[in-house]
Amino acid sequence: MAVDYADLAKTIAALTEGETDEVALMATLACEIHHSDARFDWTGFYRVTTPRVLKIGPYQGGHGCLVIPFGKGVCGTAAETGEVQIVEDVEAFPGHIACAASTRSEIVLPVQGASGQVIGVLDIDSNQPAAFTAADGEALGAILRDVFGQGGHRR
Ligand code: SME
Repeated sequence: MAVDYADLAKTIAALTEGETDEVALMATLACEIHHSDARFDWTGFYRVTTPRVLKIGPYQGGHGCLVIPFGKGVCGTAAETGEVQIVEDVEAFPGHIACAASTRSEIVLPVQGASGQVIGVLDIDSNQPAAFTAADGEALGAILRDVFGQGGHRR
């Protein structure tokens, strides 16, 4: 099953209209994205709360580990590089942090705030191997830019 990203983006834009609180926005996105596709078994945000440290934010799914340093695991790599990470096989990713043994693949996108700085990452994990493509990265990145970024629909 593929996500109808146009529909998802429209729903998210409507639900978040006028809201600027980052945690409220992250909670809404985690819920809406998670339930949009059966491939998504864990969907959530890690936030930059102190320099070079990611702390767990709003999520859907099982327990997520609380703290990830920049540069560690898939999330820490996305935060460090500012680039989307698509991992087809988590067991082949050096330093992958296994929060759930069922996770087989994942996508992590950096989240940039209104002034262009990395404010966190969006992590989606799947129990299916190679569940994510560059098209998922592009569509999800557009949603994140619209909600959190410069020139987003509420700024
Ligand atoms: N898999 C992630 C860790 C976060 S949890 O799976 C929720 C990583 O290696 O960054």
